[in-house]
Amino acid sequence: MVKTLALLALCATVAVANPIVLVKADLINNSGKTYQLQVDTDNRSCICLKNTQTAKILNRDAADMKLFSTSDCTGNFSQLGKGKTQINAQWVNSVSMGKSGVPSIGPYGCPNYFNR
Ligand SMILES: *[C@@H]1O[C@H](CO)[C@@H](O)[C@H](O)[C@H]1NC(C)=O
Ligand SMILES: *[C@@H]1O[C@H](CO)[C@@H](O)[C@H](O)[C@H]1NC(C)=O
Ligand SMILES: *[C@@H]1O[C@H](CO)[C@@H](O)[C@H](O)[C@H]1NC(C)=O
Repeated sequence: MVKTLALLALCATVAVANPIVLVKADLINNSGKTYQLQVDTDNRSCICLKNTQTAKILNRDAADMKLFSTSDCTGNFSQLGKGKTQINAQWVNSVSMGKSGVPSIGPYGCPNYFNR
């Protein structure tokens, strides 16, 4: 019975036509805790960090990532390259990441990502 279910789950996974590929960035707070942001690689997402304390931000594999002091990915930004870490990132109130050259989607709310 357990084996049948496992096999079904496997088939369901294989059947997905266009799997969503995620790109990731890590948020590290003053206590050294990490929260990982994940967004669809085919889109650019704006993520509001107004209520999330960030000491460091690490762009793991996003082709393009921008850091903003505004909370809605508008105005001046600082580019964060793939594999690069921004230290002293307390000033960052939003980030946009994913595909380059397309408008960003969101943000959808401003949660504290370390308190969910
Ligand atoms: C860091 O995140 C942890 C949860 O992962 C939380 O308990 C702690 O209060 C946070 N620290 C700061 C300074 O935000
Ligand atoms: C990503 O963008 C494509 C079109 O460019 C859209 O069809 C898709 O729904 C978007 N995905 C998300 C998670 O918004
Ligand atoms: C962006 O930066 C320029 C030069 O530093 C500054 O003059 C301008 O006021 C800034 N714009 C915003 C929206 O912060």
